[in-house]
Amino acid sequence: MNVIIAGFGTIGQSFVQLLMNHKEFLKKAYGMVTKVVAIVDSKGAAVSQRGLDLNLVMRCKREYGTVAKVPSVGYEMSFLEAIQSVEANVLIEATYTNLTNGEPGMTHILTALQLGLNVVTVNKGPLALAMPMLKEIAEHRKVALKFSGTVGGGLPVLAFARECAKGDKVVKVEGVLNGTTNYILTRMEDGLKFEEALIEAQEKGYAERDPTLDISGMDTACKLVILANEVLGNRVTLKDVRVEGIADIKPEDLKIAKNAGKTIRLIGVAEESEVFVKPLVIDQSDPLAVKYTYNAITLTLENSGRHTITGKGAGGRETATAIIRDLISIKERLVVT
Ligand code: HSE
Repeated sequence: MNVIIAGFGTIGQSFVQLLMNHKEFLKKAYGMVTKVVAIVDSKGAAVSQRGLDLNLVMRCKREYGTVAKVPSVGYEMSFLEAIQSVEANVLIEATYTNLTNGEPGMTHILTALQLGLNVVTVNKGPLALAMPMLKEIAEHRKVALKFSGTVGGGLPVLAFARECAKGDKVVKVEGVLNGTTNYILTRMEDGLKFEEALIEAQEKGYAERDPTLDISGMDTACKLVILANEVLGNRVTLKDVRVEGIADIKPEDLKIAKNAGKTIRLIGVAEESEVFVKPLVIDQSDPLAVKYTYNAITLTLENSGRHTITGKGAGGRETATAIIRDLISIKERLVVT
């Protein structure tokens, strides 16, 4: 399988590292041999149709800050030029989230789908703004559009939902979907001020490039849109979500809740009739009352009740495992078709 990686930040680099570490395992367990034919960052690209030397690419990225400096295969080349000119089966879209127009990821995904490439995205922006349309294009072009890493990091939320839904109907999705805000709320319970807790969350590397996306609830809303489309079959986008963040929560609010055996969590809720994000007071014993950067997603099924999955919802290495998961299912699909 030949892949192009667009965006070479924490997640892109973690993915390449995983690919190198697990090369033999992936070949033995899944017959998966992945050739990275292009990696593009904001300053240029490294391209080799025979497959890049990944150790060398990682070294150059560390030393020079760009893959464009990789000897003999580094070029001044845009994301789009690489997608249009390099022969590949899969585009991995790992550029940053932009909720204004989804760019540059939106154009990368649209171009790749039109060219007949399968797409794995860890970028939530294009899906949050146009998931129903992107899924239709992928279906029409008969290619895969995979996005495990956009919700829950390495936590297999979407696979869990698909499995739960076999023979039953998911009627409601509730989730703590943002590690940064959950970390802040947990640390405020410990007595920290909002600003101090935010700095700690940023130092841990979970916050978005623009942390207001986390605080305002927009990151949770993006993930909720993806879940609502995929798990409930709602054709919604970001504009359909009522969003309230955690900026107004005070340490005193958390203290009052704690004394009553409760806590406050930023929760996304999706049902057929409504989709919203809001800080909610819940029992400390509720499975959604996870701490620090953990995520938790509860599905309510028509017949079998509430099911919850929890785990680390962010982080480069964790999210990179979701890319591997998506590649394995694309590989299985390539073999079948
Ligand atoms: N900023 C996000 C979070 C990263 O804190 O959960 C993972 O999507």
